[in-house]
Amino acid sequence: MSEKPNPTELSEGIDRALEALREGLDARFASAATEQALRDENAKLLGKKGELTAVLKQMGAVPADARRAIGEKVNAVKQQVEATFAARLAELHRAARQAELTAPPFDLTLPGRAPAPLGHAHPISIVRDEVVAIFRGLGFGVFDGPEVEHEENNFTLLGFPPDHPATDMQDSFWTTSNHLLRTHTSNIQVRAMKALEPPMAFIAPGAVYRRDDDATHSPVFHQIEAFLIDRGVSLAHLKGVLAEFAERLYGPGTPVRLRPSYFPFVEPGAEVDIGCVFCKQADGTRPGCSLCKHTGWIEILGCGLIHPVVLEGCGIDPEQWSGFALGMGIERIAMLRYGIPNIKLMFEGDPRFVAQF
Ligand code: DAH
Repeated sequence: MSEKPNPTELSEGIDRALEALREGLDARFASAATEQALRDENAKLLGKKGELTAVLKQMGAVPADARRAIGEKVNAVKQQVEATFAARLAELHRAARQAELTAPPFDLTLPGRAPAPLGHAHPISIVRDEVVAIFRGLGFGVFDGPEVEHEENNFTLLGFPPDHPATDMQDSFWTTSNHLLRTHTSNIQVRAMKALEPPMAFIAPGAVYRRDDDATHSPVFHQIEAFLIDRGVSLAHLKGVLAEFAERLYGPGTPVRLRPSYFPFVEPGAEVDIGCVFCKQADGTRPGCSLCKHTGWIEILGCGLIHPVVLEGCGIDPEQWSGFALGMGIERIAMLRYGIPNIKLMFEGDPRFVAQF
């Protein structure tokens, strides 16, 4: 059994222990090279099982009259530990920041990072922009209008009789009574004629809607309408514009032909073919290809001279003014241009599809 130390010995022992801690303090903290090492060292002193904590635990055995003096020494050492710790910590932080600031800002030997892939214009947008640019080049302006349209602008004023199949629920998307999703961009002719005095020449691109759904038809698709009203406009003007348009879109020398056809809002009406851009056999000397169904010709649009009844209904005097109109499907032109086999591909939003154009 060890003898209990007497109070004087105890005080002196504590004194010595505190002195030893104090002396070693700077060196202990200075040798901690990282923040973690510094914190570990600090814990060895002030932690639950720390050296200074162990000294503190002996205080209970110190007689009351000496306790105050020793207590002050213990506190002084504790404060010194804390101050030294804080100073060393700040020093380590400064050094780390300094290293960061003086290191080369970036590694010039790293291989470059590839730029993020660019988006692509959709083939419908590409073709629309091209057609609009061609007509603008010929002096046409752009006229816009709504996709939800009154039946008067979509059908009635264009000369569709009330029982025309296009007006049927089976063929068109009706919204509220008398309103429907426009079935073509020809509504823009009506809107322009009602709003403006001739002469006028406009092009109108936009989405149109029909209850149609197969490999070559989609319930939503896009059209471009063009129309011109002036004094003495004839089929010759229409043909001239068509020939110019075909050359600019499909290349010089592209053959164009008009076939008589019927649309309620034109008289005469025609469908326009261009020489097949794939087999180029519009001269009929060879049997053509499957894309032109072996005819050598491909249909691209409908057109005609604006019916006098349509002009009159929209407030334009047909005795003074005449005009031509034409309308084409953008998807059809894009499909022909790029050999796209299914119209659905254009509405699926697959980036691998769009990236090809
Ligand atoms: N609106 C017609 C359609 O959607 C296309 C059309 C034909 C427009 C003849 C015209 C035209 O301007 O003159 O099928």
